[in-house]
Amino acid sequence: MTTERKKLNEVDSGVVKNLQKVVNFMEEKKYYPVKRYLEIQRSAILDMEGFWSKEARDIPWFKEWDKVLEWEPPFAKWFVGAKLNACYTCVDIHMISWRKNKVAIYWEGEDGSTKSYSYAQLYREVNKFASIMKNLGVREGDIVVLYLPMIPELPISMLATARIGATHTVVFSGFSSQALADRINDTGAKYLVTADFGMRRGKHYPLKTIVDEALKQTPTVQKVIFIKRSEEEIELMDGRDFTYQELMEKAEKYVEPVAVESTHPLYILYTSGTTGKPKGIIHSTGGYLVYNYVTYKWVFDISDESIYWCTADVGWVTGHSSIVYAPLLHGATILVYEGAPDYPQPDRWWELIERYGVTIFYTSPTAIRMFMRYGEEWIKKHDLSSLKILGSVGEPINPEVWEWYYQVIGGERCPIVDTWWQTETGGIMISPAPGLELVPLKPGSATLPLPGIDAEVVDDTGKPVPPGKKGYLVIRKPWPSMLMGIYKDPERYREVYWSKFEGLYYTGDYAIKDEEGYFWILGRADEVLKVAGHRMGTAEIESVVVEVPFVAEAAVIGIPDPIKGENIVIFAILKEGYREDGKLKDEIVKALRKQIGPIATPKSIHFVEKLPKTRSGKIMRRVLKAIVKGETIGDISTLEDEASVEEIKTIFHEFKEIFGKDDSNKSEN
Ligand code: WTA
Repeated sequence: MTTERKKLNEVDSGVVKNLQKVVNFMEEKKYYPVKRYLEIQRSAILDMEGFWSKEARDIPWFKEWDKVLEWEPPFAKWFVGAKLNACYTCVDIHMISWRKNKVAIYWEGEDGSTKSYSYAQLYREVNKFASIMKNLGVREGDIVVLYLPMIPELPISMLATARIGATHTVVFSGFSSQALADRINDTGAKYLVTADFGMRRGKHYPLKTIVDEALKQTPTVQKVIFIKRSEEEIELMDGRDFTYQELMEKAEKYVEPVAVESTHPLYILYTSGTTGKPKGIIHSTGGYLVYNYVTYKWVFDISDESIYWCTADVGWVTGHSSIVYAPLLHGATILVYEGAPDYPQPDRWWELIERYGVTIFYTSPTAIRMFMRYGEEWIKKHDLSSLKILGSVGEPINPEVWEWYYQVIGGERCPIVDTWWQTETGGIMISPAPGLELVPLKPGSATLPLPGIDAEVVDDTGKPVPPGKKGYLVIRKPWPSMLMGIYKDPERYREVYWSKFEGLYYTGDYAIKDEEGYFWILGRADEVLKVAGHRMGTAEIESVVVEVPFVAEAAVIGIPDPIKGENIVIFAILKEGYREDGKLKDEIVKALRKQIGPIATPKSIHFVEKLPKTRSGKIMRRVLKAIVKGETIGDISTLEDEASVEEIKTIFHEFKEIFGKDDSNKSEN
């Protein structure tokens, strides 16, 4: 037995002991349903490989695996030796069943235009698009960047890329040209698929101009496909730019799906961490699909009758797993909506749910908080009785918001699945699982880890903390949809996730586990922000602010926000000779929108003389946060200069004024 294997087994006995304690507790409290969940969990943890290999047989493979798991910490390879194709598993497989004529995608644009695709139509489009890409030169192993709004061509492009064995990198279409260029350059991609515009709040936002700007800085890009949505002429560069529509006319009807290795990267998705540079998270094909197939059965009880709507943007991981891959693997019908949630009026979403008969609705706490503000009358206008399960993702959901969601949207009929996961985990990790066994819900808790997921809350030394105590959320064992690494940076992968605690995956989140083993996720423990559920790093924002010519230094913190969960506040020191004249703040906002996108628009900016720093020059964001939130500052013995604290305290009144009246009623995205 290898040492690693031994270590795994040591962990096993601890987990099983803990589970037994929980089982006893549940029995005492007569929580019988949980018993079955715990039995499955126990068998999954005791025979992890057996458990996952059994589940994996539910999706179609071209060749079975030789080995379920190759675990060379911290690198996991799942279903080694097996071959499959993601597009085949999501689309072709339904062509040999009655689902062929079932609706795969309902799409609706903000302006009311609609489209729908049966699985057979999706199959045709995907094949044609795969043939276009092939003709343009895309080959197995190439990276294709997709910078698209929420149109059906986005899932189509993803599936077509996967069909020919290439890897996609979707860039959220709200990101700026600079952010797009940075991502293209990190991947070194030769191919880009985009559109002429996107729709939001009654306006068309011009993707073409953003792309043109980005392409000036991306020397590797050789071919660009534009999906033309308007009649307007667009300027194309000869030999480089093509329109989708023209190419589709000449496309072939069938392209053989490439049988790729289970560990073949299905996609790379960039996400923010604690440094200025976003990380390219790599996800596998086999493990990723198996895990998402299984967990959607458990968490959403997804079935042939499901009309499934996840309101996220495909540009984030939630969209990858929850809009595209998991529901299509199941042959479900998905709804894709392009536009603002409250446009033209605040019942837009509820009207959509009623009209399409949505059964599973998955959204973010930010959206729910926004609709709470608008009031129940907008919801009462609509019949939401088709809903069966409600989901929440991306940030902690406050208990009062949970209650409102349960009562007003769910009519006290629908369980709420508060799903905790991350770009890196690829799939849902901690969540109620009504499709397996619904445990008693507790508003604000993501409840229990899904079977096979060995989560724990630990202290600074990596030891489990007692129930009710705050600690760091870690995962002790590999799981099938675990990230394969960070693109071109295995060292960073090791360092970010596996160096804080020996042998444990560090999530970056704080959590509490209560007496009954329920997990309460408290938010990030690192310098990562979740603003309206969008993930950004303070360092990423700071690096843009300090690039502004008149800024000498900057510190960014996240502060609680009643709607968005968290919001961005910037402190900056001006260079010698500059004074705020009413325009400088605007310049900073402009720079952020240009370098990152509108999601990085701060709540407020404050110019100060000094920033609280340690003697070694590290900015003490903790001190800034405490002052702003009006909390006790704690130990400042390492502080270099106390005058900085006094200065920020004086502008605290300014804060009270700003945060007293809240204007963040509208979602940025
Ligand atoms: C947070 C989104 C509380 C958490 C799928 C995590 C949550 C980060 C929840 C990942 C939840 C996600 N309750 N917090 N149910 N779900 N988070 O990569 O801080 O955009 O680390 O993935 O979102 O964000 P990401």
